[in-house]
Amino acid sequence: MKVLLIGSGGREHALAWKMNQSPLLSRLFVAPGNGGTADIAENVTLDVTNHEAVRAFCCAHRVDLVVIGPEAPLVGGLSDALRGAGFDVFGPSQAAAQLEGSKQFTKQLCAQKDVPTAAHAYFDRLEDARKHVERTGVPVVIKADGLAAGKGVTVAMDMATALAALEQIFVDGTPGAGVVIEEYLEGEEVSVFALCSGTDFELFGDARDHKRAFDGDRGPNTGGMGAFSPSGLMSAELTEAICTRIIAPTLSGMQERGTPFRGILYAGLMLTEQGPKLIEYNVRFGDPECQVLMMRLQGDLLEMLLANAKSDMTVPPVRFKKDHALCVVVAAKGYPGPYETGVPISGLPVEPAADRELFQAGTKKHDGQTVSAGGRVLNACALGRDRAQARKKAYDLVERINWEGGFFRTDIGQD
Ligand code: AMP
Ligand code: GLY
Repeated sequence: MKVLLIGSGGREHALAWKMNQSPLLSRLFVAPGNGGTADIAENVTLDVTNHEAVRAFCCAHRVDLVVIGPEAPLVGGLSDALRGAGFDVFGPSQAAAQLEGSKQFTKQLCAQKDVPTAAHAYFDRLEDARKHVERTGVPVVIKADGLAAGKGVTVAMDMATALAALEQIFVDGTPGAGVVIEEYLEGEEVSVFALCSGTDFELFGDARDHKRAFDGDRGPNTGGMGAFSPSGLMSAELTEAICTRIIAPTLSGMQERGTPFRGILYAGLMLTEQGPKLIEYNVRFGDPECQVLMMRLQGDLLEMLLANAKSDMTVPPVRFKKDHALCVVVAAKGYPGPYETGVPISGLPVEPAADRELFQAGTKKHDGQTVSAGGRVLNACALGRDRAQARKKAYDLVERINWEGGFFRTDIGQD
């Protein structure tokens, strides 16, 4: 079958790599893809905000399945447009993607279905927001409503930071969108994934990621500087609590609204003293969490995605290797602030091995040479019998690349 994968990150390289192992696959297009997907699939230029152009491409190339990686096209309704034209799509509808697209929507759903999450208040006027923060005090968490690509959240430990964050949201934020002010949750963070089809779901692994740019969780928030799986935090009891108190009621709430959720649901959770609480949902695989999940996933990813996209097929069982996977992100110097692009990267591709993979993210091919083209550039991933071994192998891989234009954290997966 022919598949069109939408996206250009390390997540999409990992999805392409895993789908390539499927005997079902005859041709894989990636729009727009990156330097890594160019080696294993066919990169195509498509404006994914132009639904008609994507539909026309799918017709012309007789695409059997469209897999949507990032959130923006989901929130933009690409899946609905393609489904409406008769194509199978992996990824939720626009209405269901509100679980990621609108924090206010998710908070309302949590309140209706009694899903544990941080107490919150919503404001669309700076003055009201400021008064609220001054009244409740710090620490407090301030989030711009709408998609913010990981940059719209401030965990403010002091009042000056809190007030500055509010000012910035109302000055620079999306016009008309407001701010969610949340109770600060204390605990360990874990990401849990579920492959969902209406009210049915199957867990799809767990992971932890490192959001801050520098060692020791210092520096600005990024899209993610590394990840590992399993998280080491899950117990049978915790899994049960997450399923029954968080994921199941969310899915039934979506179903009751007439907007059932189909696709991968990524729950960002805080493990507090009162039990797991929802920080946020994403309606797609995380990046770089996806890379570590794909390293560990057994079986045919394409078959799983196809079965999920078609409501009348049984999803094959989801199984993961017992091995641990760890991913170190190599980012362009300056990221998440301004950085240079077009810097050549030598030593690619690294020769294949069963226990390691170098996924590419912000790269492209230029005159046959791989050059940097984004903030997060390379993802060194490895499998090991435990996290320490996976870690060592992933860092060995980073050393082999030794790219001068980049930097990476040296403490991914360290407690
Ligand atoms: P988000 O973009 O919503 O994932 O938030 C980015 C990061 O901010 C999360 O990964 C958490 O580390 C932190 N965070 C978000 N909400 C809260 C909260 N209510 N309490 C404590 N930390 C939070
Ligand atoms: N790594 C976090 C995300 O994909 O949103």
